[in-house]
Amino acid sequence: MKTALIGGGTMGEAILKSLIRKKLADKGEITVSDISAARRELLKKRYGVNVTDSNVEAIRGAEVILLAVKPGEMGQVLGQLSGQLKSQLIISIAAGVTLETITSKLNYRQVVRAMPNTPAQVGKGMTAWVTAKEVSKVNHDKARAILASLGEEHYFADEKYMDMATAISGSGPAYVFLVIEALIDAGVHIGLPRDVAQKLVLVTISGSAEAMQKMGKHPAELRNMVTSPGGTTAEALYKLEMGGLRSLMISAVEAAYNKAKGLGK
Ligand SMILES: NC(=O)c1ccc[n+]([C@@H]2O[C@H](COP(=O)([O-])OP(=O)(O)OC[C@H]3O[C@@H](n4cnc5c(N)ncnc54)[C@H](OP(=O)(O)O)[C@@H]3O)[C@@H](O)[C@H]2O)c1
Repeated sequence: MKTALIGGGTMGEAILKSLIRKKLADKGEITVSDISAARRELLKKRYGVNVTDSNVEAIRGAEVILLAVKPGEMGQVLGQLSGQLKSQLIISIAAGVTLETITSKLNYRQVVRAMPNTPAQVGKGMTAWVTAKEVSKVNHDKARAILASLGEEHYFADEKYMDMATAISGSGPAYVFLVIEALIDAGVHIGLPRDVAQKLVLVTISGSAEAMQKMGKHPAELRNMVTSPGGTTAEALYKLEMGGLRSLMISAVEAAYNKAKGLGK
């Protein structure tokens, strides 16, 4: 599948790696366009893909065009691509840049808007996506296969959910990393060696998530299983509730959601 990747930064590289790993595109079929010479050199060396500093050259002959530049650079990139499109699938991952903005600037409607997250770097991403209503079945299926290569994907029929997904799964890894860091520090505070604390925390977090997925139980039920009356866990949970963890989480996510909605305006 001949693919153009505009923007070979952190997320662009995650997509590039997944496309090659899942054999959706051969490295020779991928052209990465990036304004940074250092990024071009690195990606060429690391993955053997074609590189260019010209976005127009990158899309020549491409069936799929992935837009992975920062939202502030999207206007310029869309301007360069406008008038060059026939039946290609466009997938944008720029946060907050709406389908309406992309389709109107391109005057072209085979457009998908996606919100991946950084665990995509290791094939464990969660990507929310939406399409312009004119997107063909072929392009819809192609988009699903590409986004599934990053990990899990979830298609929304209504774009309004994209800002919510941004606040939960897009920004979510940062919340989880903060919790991980705090738990490791807590372990060190009570006397655990840091490397041991890190191992205990990481396995506990990934194990808890996997257990919930496999057991299909409500989190409160799973929490109750480790909370014996008057025990150590109950003591810690009481402190977390006293500190307002639950309402703090809600207001944090709401703040991210409001910010995401603002980006699209
Ligand atoms: N990181 C996340 O968690 C995440 C999650 C979901 C979606 N996103 C979205 O993904 C997009 C990319 O994010 P990122 O973290 O990968 O950013 P990034 O690392 O800064 O990558 C963007 C790359 O595009 C290059 N670039 C800038 N302007 C360009 C242009 N006109 N033509 C071609 N290349 C250009 C940049 O070069 P320079 O560095 O030289 O400017 C950089 O190498 C953003 O729109 C973001 O909203 C990010």
